[in-house]
Amino acid sequence: MTRRVDDPTLRQAYLEAMGVQAWARRDAAVERVAAPVSEAAGAGSLASDVTSVPTPPSPTPAPMDPSGIGALDLGGLARVVADCQACALAAGRTHTVFGVGDPSARLMIVGEGPGAEEDRQGEPFVGRAGRLLNAMLRAMGLDREAVYIANIVKCRPPNNRDPRPEEVAACSRFLRRQIELVRPGIIVAVGRVAAQNLLGSTETLGRMRGREHVHAATGTPVVVTYHPAYLLRTPADKWKAWEDLRRVMRLLERDR
Ligand code: URA
Repeated sequence: MTRRVDDPTLRQAYLEAMGVQAWARRDAAVERVAAPVSEAAGAGSLASDVTSVPTPPSPTPAPMDPSGIGALDLGGLARVVADCQACALAAGRTHTVFGVGDPSARLMIVGEGPGAEEDRQGEPFVGRAGRLLNAMLRAMGLDREAVYIANIVKCRPPNNRDPRPEEVAACSRFLRRQIELVRPGIIVAVGRVAAQNLLGSTETLGRMRGREHVHAATGTPVVVTYHPAYLLRTPADKWKAWEDLRRVMRLLERDR
């Protein structure tokens, strides 16, 4: 079950923590963004604002699975990931970073891959970007524990470089199985790398935002937004991220 924070005052506090509130005072365009915070507490307004929702196509048939990953539960999958040596990233890791959260969450967050802090702790999004992600979730009325958080790759790419295609390919069966097991109603892909790899696209993040997408392998709707690390560097774009998150809230409300 996804636990919600329905107290509008609390949500406002987290929206401020996300850094959106300040712009509402400066920028008229952002008033559109800030106003729905109180609206968001009311179910009807969220549902009625959804214009259309992607119709999931039939999921792509599962590839041959000689490794038996398709039969594993999350615990078994985490153990396989912990022992994985399928690509060069294994050599440099301190810990694999499997994923955390509610195993039956309605919302799944997918990031790119572990950074230094995540590699140290073995948990996704625990550094500065993770703190902003937590604030983004709270602004949506969700606890971190109520969603499921995973990454495209489970081992840290050196110097935080983008994961290479062969590294993504080696890891993709793990993420696919996580999505199959959690069965979220919506996936939020944070950042270009997550979005491109989840959707098999080469489009820019700017082109992918604000559109309807579906994860082909599982038929799960995908919303694309900025990576919190980017938002830390470019706070002026936080209001756009808040627009994306509002879209997610509407979709969640609709499917409640
Ligand atoms: N960035 C990501 O994409 N994932 C993490 O787990 C941490 C930072």
